Amino acid sequence: MNNDHHNQHPKQVTEETNRPLSPWLVGAFMLALIWGGLYLGFNSGGFRQDVYESNAVNWVGGGATAAAPVDPKVVGKRLYTQNCVVCHQPNGMGVAGQFPPLAGSEWVLTEGNHAENHLVMLVLNGLQGTFEVKGQQYNNAMVPWKQLSDEQIADILTYIRSDWGNNTPAISPEFVTQIRKTDAAQSDSWTQEQLLAVPPVKPNVTSGATPAMK
Ligand code: HEC
Repeated sequence: MNNDHHNQHPKQVTEETNRPLSPWLVGAFMLALIWGGLYLGFNSGGFRQDVYESNAVNWVGGGATAAAPVDPKVVGKRLYTQNCVVCHQPNGMGVAGQFPPLAGSEWVLTEGNHAENHLVMLVLNGLQGTFEVKGQQYNNAMVPWKQLSDEQIADILTYIRSDWGNNTPAISPEFVTQIRKTDAAQSDSWTQEQLLAVPPVKPNVTSGATPAMK
């Protein structure tokens, strides 16, 4: 008799907890899950770090976390629009008599005695005095851009060397790092004469020893 009484209690508890959930509640829960999944899928940018942090560009072969790399030209174009476009213009043609063109410029395309180190140096430290581009004289000044990171400068230069008919190889962040080191002693903006007196440094001649600069 006593045993019967004791067995009834656990049975009641089981019946309570096994009551099925309201189908509405289950449905609402499923909808919330699906909506959440779709929302993340459309808005997460594939969970790539560079979507959230513009500086974190994944370079090809750089870093174990790299997903598909962001094209440096795309980042470079955005940085160009933010920093350079007011003077050098969206079409890279500059403004006659005031701001020299980048399209077809021997300084950008590094033709003749104009080398990649000169291009990096003039962007890092700025320019002053008379300056010749495509046979035209300019006598203006450009502020230094050394506050930009090596990656940012590399991206901008890679971009301006590839648009408006320009078609010259990319500049790597490593090359900018290298030139920034050898360039650190320069405190003034460059003049054209000073720049061209510095021996040319080509990016592909840099494995190991860097040519001495005087
Ligand atoms: C406020 C105007 C101004 C801005 C902004 C500016 N520049 Fe310049 N830039 C000049 C001037 C002026 C010269 C020529 C210097 C002189 O006359 O002494 C020049 C020269 C140059 C040259 C060498 C000559 C040529 O035309 O190829 C390059 C390359 C260059 N700038 C790149 C850049 C880049 C890259 C940026 C953005 C990070 C930039 N500039 C932003 C005014 C500007």
